[in-house]
Amino acid sequence: MKKSNIKYRKYHEIPEEIIQQAEEKTKNSPYLQSFHIEPNSGYLNDPNGFSYYNGKYHMFYQWSPLRYLKEPERWYQGWYHLESKDMVHWISVGVGLEPDTKFDSHGPYSGSAMVDEDKLLIFYTGNTRDNKGIRTPYQMIAIMDKNGKIQKSRIPGFTGLIDGYTDHFRDPKIWKENNTYYAVVGIQRENKTGASVILKSKDAVEWELAGEIRTDYPEFGYMWECPDYFKLQGQGVLLFSPQGLKAQGAQYQNIYQSGYLVGETLDLENLTFNHESFQELDSGFDFYATQTMDTNDGRRILSAWMGMPEIEYPTEAFGYCGCLTIPRELSLKNNELLQTPIKELQKLRCGHRKTQEKIEKDKVFKYETGSVFEIDLTIEIENAKSIQLSLRSDEKMKKKTVVFVNPVDKDIILDRSNSGKPFGTEYGTTRKIAQNISNKIRMRIFVDKSSIEVFVNDGENVASSRIFPGEDQKYLFVESIGGTSTIKMDYWKLRKQRE
Ligand code: FRU
Repeated sequence: MKKSNIKYRKYHEIPEEIIQQAEEKTKNSPYLQSFHIEPNSGYLNDPNGFSYYNGKYHMFYQWSPLRYLKEPERWYQGWYHLESKDMVHWISVGVGLEPDTKFDSHGPYSGSAMVDEDKLLIFYTGNTRDNKGIRTPYQMIAIMDKNGKIQKSRIPGFTGLIDGYTDHFRDPKIWKENNTYYAVVGIQRENKTGASVILKSKDAVEWELAGEIRTDYPEFGYMWECPDYFKLQGQGVLLFSPQGLKAQGAQYQNIYQSGYLVGETLDLENLTFNHESFQELDSGFDFYATQTMDTNDGRRILSAWMGMPEIEYPTEAFGYCGCLTIPRELSLKNNELLQTPIKELQKLRCGHRKTQEKIEKDKVFKYETGSVFEIDLTIEIENAKSIQLSLRSDEKMKKKTVVFVNPVDKDIILDRSNSGKPFGTEYGTTRKIAQNISNKIRMRIFVDKSSIEVFVNDGENVASSRIFPGEDQKYLFVESIGGTSTIKMDYWKLRKQRE
């Protein structure tokens, strides 16, 4: 069946038994996450509308619940809504935005939210196609009130295309400054290069084009998705997810990237942005489409999709795919973003164990971790040539996810070639996750049923990856190859975020 023949339906029009059938399949997955947000069925992609409003954190995500059912007529794409008191324990609210107007008939695509007096102001892209498949994007406003009722505005905030650009125009990230509303939006120029533009408005109802942000990257991929602009410690930060970069050494290894430019604050009059060079946010295998929000106590928190477009994941056999990363707090040091797990995640900790161990040359230290845990590990390399951490390993060390710490090359490599069920191998099975390391390294590692997130040296480097190990893969082994090393480790089992 051709794509244009698919009939888009609203969520509430889907018969209950079809939803149940989809959710039943997902419930049987051995890979269900314990403390990450993932869908009850179907496809999750970008985090949307991440905000703090009316005493709660709100998280929405791009959701296509029936994607893996064979039904040709399906509810297509919308926002799913969750709320939380602490960004750790999430309660499902249900469908957030549905494809129920002529301005978003083919999916309310990604967007953001900000608190505006007593309302939550949502700005998102309505995706539409006519019967020839021609796409018209609308930048749409919706308002959520204190009762959680969401009302879409009758008319789009901004209609259609901009001269000089294609129909790839989406993902507004909204903020307010000097009594004006602004949004940074991803776009593709007619010459098929990616960029971001600024829309502005006095009333958040009617929006006009302010112009394109001028960066030092006029030719950097063919599309910039999910841009985000904010100030941090007096500097300006532009995040975006460029598509179409070619792999270069250890960089840009995934199908698409997510990264940032940090510089002076953006000049909102002439849209110049003086910045340092582009840096990737995460060097793992599965990380895309970031979004940030600021908390009431002034922290800038980032969430992302721990997944990549166009990759087939083992969970699809159970009718679902995708999860969000743990939230991370951002800070700047020497023009680089540091990312650390939010402190609230400590609430999940239980069963603390502390270890200090000198590992002799070529000896192996064995530790039973289970499959859901956090470790805070400091390694001091005395004269070892390499340290090998095998995480989620089976007893025989055949199946495992390996972190190689290499004092000779001064780098850290993440290897998922033998993690469990293979997937996405067309993009390689190893990643260089840190460079120029010293002989003392701290790593905080968060492991869930089917993911690993490694934070190196207080968040200087981060690597997020999905892995699909078997139940017997519940050990950590540390080997000190060619010499000795010392490890200090705090271990915690992590509770489920939802009971
Ligand atoms: C990024 C993205 C966005 C778009 C959304 C649709 O993953 O392609 O640009 O709004 O997903 O789901």
